[in-house]
Amino acid sequence: MHTSTIGLWALAAGIVSAKSCFNATVEVDISARNGVFDKIKTPETNLDATTFALASAKTGGNITEEALSGYATVGGRYNISTQYCMPKNSESGSHTLQILTHGMGFDKSYWDLPYHNFNYSYVDYVLSRGYHTFSYDRLGIGKSTHGDAKNEIQSFLEIEALAELTRKVREGSLEGVKKPSKVVHVGHSFGSAQTVAMSAMYPDLSDALVLTGFSASIASMPVFLAGANFQQANLNHPPGCPSTPRPSYSSGYLVNSDIGTNKFLFFCPGNFDEGILSYAEQNKQPMTVGELMTMTGLPTSSAFTGAVYVIDGENDIAFCGGACSYTTDSSASIPAGVKAVFPKASAFSAYVHPNTGHGINLHYNSTAAYKQINDFLGAQGLISESHEHEARHHHDF
Ligand SMILES: *[C@@H]1O[C@H](CO)[C@@H](O)[C@H](O)[C@H]1NC(C)=O
Ligand SMILES: *[C@@H]1O[C@H](CO)[C@@H](O)[C@H](O)[C@H]1NC(C)=O
Ligand SMILES: *[C@@H]1O[C@H](CO)[C@@H](O)[C@H](O)[C@H]1NC(C)=O
Ligand SMILES: *[C@@H]1O[C@H](CO)[C@@H](O)[C@H](O)[C@H]1NC(C)=O
Ligand SMILES: *[C@@H]1O[C@H](CO)[C@@H](O)[C@H](O)[C@H]1NC(C)=O
Repeated sequence: MHTSTIGLWALAAGIVSAKSCFNATVEVDISARNGVFDKIKTPETNLDATTFALASAKTGGNITEEALSGYATVGGRYNISTQYCMPKNSESGSHTLQILTHGMGFDKSYWDLPYHNFNYSYVDYVLSRGYHTFSYDRLGIGKSTHGDAKNEIQSFLEIEALAELTRKVREGSLEGVKKPSKVVHVGHSFGSAQTVAMSAMYPDLSDALVLTGFSASIASMPVFLAGANFQQANLNHPPGCPSTPRPSYSSGYLVNSDIGTNKFLFFCPGNFDEGILSYAEQNKQPMTVGELMTMTGLPTSSAFTGAVYVIDGENDIAFCGGACSYTTDSSASIPAGVKAVFPKASAFSAYVHPNTGHGINLHYNSTAAYKQINDFLGAQGLISESHEHEARHHHDF
């Protein structure tokens, strides 16, 4: 299989971020059986995007079913923009790698937000506990190859990209990336949905899963779809730059309309810095109609046998309708319902993190969520051996 990487090492400066990072573009040869959505036209205007949202949010409807004319194998060679980080002065012992898959509205910088000198960085936090990280822009998004928004950039093909990146990393065939002894997959939102699906399709690629901003409930998806007030990425004016929309995205790549809708989708009022909301809006990334139509139809059960951790902000709108502790069934919380997806998991725990919306990493208390996640992983023995001793004395970051 063809492999080529174009890399660039950099030592990140900064007081907190004692890290060495390697940016590389990785070529992957992948294919998947995608949906062919030829019964609807790709939305071209902002008002077409509204029509799409209305069709998607309809009670009792299923836009995927309505648009689908069949399935076809789609694939080729694509570029994926990646970032690998390790602790500065990293010892040469074995290490556990966390592979980070971002959600809709963001790119890989969700995990390493530069805002306030990386004060919110998940990457910095986990490096301090001895892990290495590998993040990437999902296929179609950011600096990774863009594609047809309806029939190409769908969950199915993106999951193959995640699986292929994981194989390359595990076999140590990516230039600049040290071969890990264990791999933990960490997702956010749609990135968590892809992580679950990957574990169902290829259960041996992962040693543990962390699903952030995720639940098995799709009851609140219409609230998310309506709340975004979708516009075309290439017509929507980024704040502060009214004359430069995003020309590299074709029609059918949609963004939330403005800072108000960004707040609605991702934030819990009173629990974040207004400056980071502006940052999120200025750097917002699109989602494709193909992605939106393939969020369901993914595997609903996984035979994965490792440990699984789920964590949601209590006020998550997309996956809990704004109240993750509220349930009408017997489960302890909405995220606790994910347990049913993993009947063979060696360990399962679900946690509701207070005073936080869907975009966990952008809230004041984000590092306390990072601690919850990594305390769980540590308790499962998923920690770099060279760091075990230090980590035991380093629980209050
Ligand atoms: C690596 O990528 C990050 C964003 O993911 C960027 O902020 C940084 O400047 C890049 N570093 C280099 C050396 O290109
Ligand atoms: C990937 O990016 C490199 C460098 O920009 C470019 O030469 C190459 O053609 C790209 N490959 C694909 C599959 O887009
Ligand atoms: C950094 O984050 C902590 C919480 O993790 C917060 O208390 C502090 O105000 C933040 N500082 C800055 C400069 O953002
Ligand atoms: C909608 O239809 C698609 C295609 O038939 C199917 O895979 C998916 O499970 C359906 N979604 C729901 C929520 O029923
Ligand atoms: C911060 O998060 C931790 C872990 O979820 C929680 O125990 C604590 O109450 C939170 N603090 C606030 C102010 O929400």
